[in-house]
Amino acid sequence: MSSQTRNAAGPVIRVRDLRKSYGDLKAVDGVSFEVQPGQVFGLLGPNGAGKTTTVEVLEGLRAPDSGDVSVLGVDAVRRPDDLKARIGVSLQTAALYPKLTVVEVLDLFRSFYPSGRPTDELVALMDLGEKRATRTQDLSGGQRQRLSVALALVNDPELVFLDEPTTGMDPAARRMLWDVVLGLKASGRSVLLTTHYMEEAEVLCDRLAIMDHGVDSTSGRSGSTPSSASTTPAWVASPGSRPSSTRMDRSCCSRVTSRRRSARSSPRLTRSASSRPTSPSDGRRSKTSSST
Ligand SMILES: Nc1ncnc2c1ncn2[C@@H]1O[C@H](COP(=O)(O)OP(=O)(O)O)[C@@H](O)[C@H]1O
Ligand SMILES: [Mg+2]
Repeated sequence: MSSQTRNAAGPVIRVRDLRKSYGDLKAVDGVSFEVQPGQVFGLLGPNGAGKTTTVEVLEGLRAPDSGDVSVLGVDAVRRPDDLKARIGVSLQTAALYPKLTVVEVLDLFRSFYPSGRPTDELVALMDLGEKRATRTQDLSGGQRQRLSVALALVNDPELVFLDEPTTGMDPAARRMLWDVVLGLKASGRSVLLTTHYMEEAEVLCDRLAIMDHGVDSTSGRSGSTPSSASTTPAWVASPGSRPSSTRMDRSCCSRVTSRRRSARSSPRLTRSASSRPTSPSDGRRSKTSSST
């Protein structure tokens, strides 16, 4: 079934004026965007920009302070349970059952759904064959990431959230993950991923939003000079005129980031003064990687 028929009514994600603070810290400060069916949409930004907070609200895992969030036509804030079977989630920090093997975890997660993708298929897809009998506590960081992505796909979701999926992966694994994302797109699925690698965003994303809270907001479209300024996060969307393209206009990124950082030799974005309060206002990142 194509994503168009699954969600013929409109965008798979619609976010309006989303806000979330942790104490005095405005982590997400008035964010709005839409993701269309079949798109790979990228949230690009440095550490602390608010990407994970935004994604967790969309996944129904975190309550925002305000804003409207519609995911697959469902109010993700008020009715998150209606989403769980339809989305796949790879959290940035996944707590996997340490004593279970790769196959056992996949089988367990697969058992939560009435239908989905076979474990062997996912093991092969994420190149985990050699590790299928390995306990998750003995996996390397990159292997854990691959398992986390596999777990996000067990229910064959319409919409997949991947929060920094390639962090910790070696170059070969990164390219394999890119192929997986492009394969999801080719099969009509929609993907929202976060990354701080411009190269990755350029290869994968049809549309892109750049987040960087706590500094000037600059928004616009690729090919135009960003102009507006406020205290909200920075957003730049690549043009919708090339929806089938896997390339974006890199210049839209450099315009925004160059306003904020004087020296940038690497495409990897960094934040020079990111701080996380020592007393989280609400618990998170303890949930394991899944849509459950
Ligand atoms: N549970 C939490 N409690 C307090 N502050 C948090 C919490 N989660 C995130 N933050 C803060 O919110 C900001 C945005 O974090 P996050 O959404 O994780 O950004 P990103 O994913 O872009 O790195 C950061 O400054 C971070 O320290
Ligand atoms: Mg994050």
